[in-house]
Amino acid sequence: MAKQIKQIAIYGKGGIGKSTTTSNLSAALSDMGYKVMQFGCDPKADSTNTLRDGTYIPTVLDLLREKGQVKAEESIFQGYNGIYCVEAGGPAPGVGCAGRGIITAVQLLKQQHVFEDLDLDYVIYDVLGDVVCGGFAVPIREGIAQHVFTVSSSDFMAIYAANNLFKGIKKYSNAGGALLGGVIANSVTSPYQRSIIDDFVEKTQTQVMEYIPRSITVTQSELSGKTTIEGAPDSEQAKVYRALAKRIDEHTESKTPNPLDSQQLKEWAAKWAEQIIAVEKGEITSQAAGI
Ligand SMILES: Nc1ncnc2c1ncn2[C@@H]1O[C@H](COP(=O)(O)OP(=O)(O)OP(=O)(O)O)[C@@H](O)[C@H]1O
Ligand SMILES: [Mg+2]
Repeated sequence: MAKQIKQIAIYGKGGIGKSTTTSNLSAALSDMGYKVMQFGCDPKADSTNTLRDGTYIPTVLDLLREKGQVKAEESIFQGYNGIYCVEAGGPAPGVGCAGRGIITAVQLLKQQHVFEDLDLDYVIYDVLGDVVCGGFAVPIREGIAQHVFTVSSSDFMAIYAANNLFKGIKKYSNAGGALLGGVIANSVTSPYQRSIIDDFVEKTQTQVMEYIPRSITVTQSELSGKTTIEGAPDSEQAKVYRALAKRIDEHTESKTPNPLDSQQLKEWAAKWAEQIIAVEKGEITSQAAGI
């Protein structure tokens, strides 16, 4: 019997740390002995460059435009520890749906049975924050990914994007869409940031997979074109990424989340604003505020 390939999609607000987290996750899973493919779905096509010494690879859509027809293997490049890297790419700026690259690239790889032929254990899609364009919803809608994880900080706009993603997942969940594995809390350093995320996951009936601190090690590694796993394998930050990989590897049951409606989200945010102000003014202790 063919082995089950675990397909994971990572979503999150623009600039929140999706590609950084995804690349470190791929690197850590590959160090655990798994065969991993990282599939960049962003038209910017910069998902996989820290797996390849800071270099960029041609995208599936670029190759199609250039040659008319593409063999799947021409669009697959190997990076750190043999990780397979693919970038879907996008249409020429300002023309067409930016999500088309994902649809085209996924079709190409599926038609040519690439996942099975490469004997992959993991395919990790590094997607985008908003699911407004049909193409970006493909990994969820078509059930291509089994598990969705969202990268979020405790900033309201990141949580707002995560909540919108939850709405998208819920919408497609009855039609065989991907379900939610949990939240990867990125750039969480202080206790109040942790409390805000903890409260949000509780209200939306999901979970935090790992708390990833903001760290200069990530910046240093990125500047030398590497993931933290490769560039600073003995660092505390690398340990955190390895813990995330272990947690995701052990994860089996994803669920339909319970997104907040706009009124609930507004009230939730207002409550946190009051708590933080009250603590700052010394009206309540941080402990009492759950901070
Ligand atoms: N935990 C962290 N510590 C320090 N820097 C971080 C951390 N996470 C992400 N960054 C930095 O934040 C910047 C944005 O990260 P990244 O490119 O991964 O975000 P993204 O969500 O993929 O962005 P986009 O939406 O543009 O694709 C990068 O320079 C990255 O190094
Ligand atoms: Mg990115």
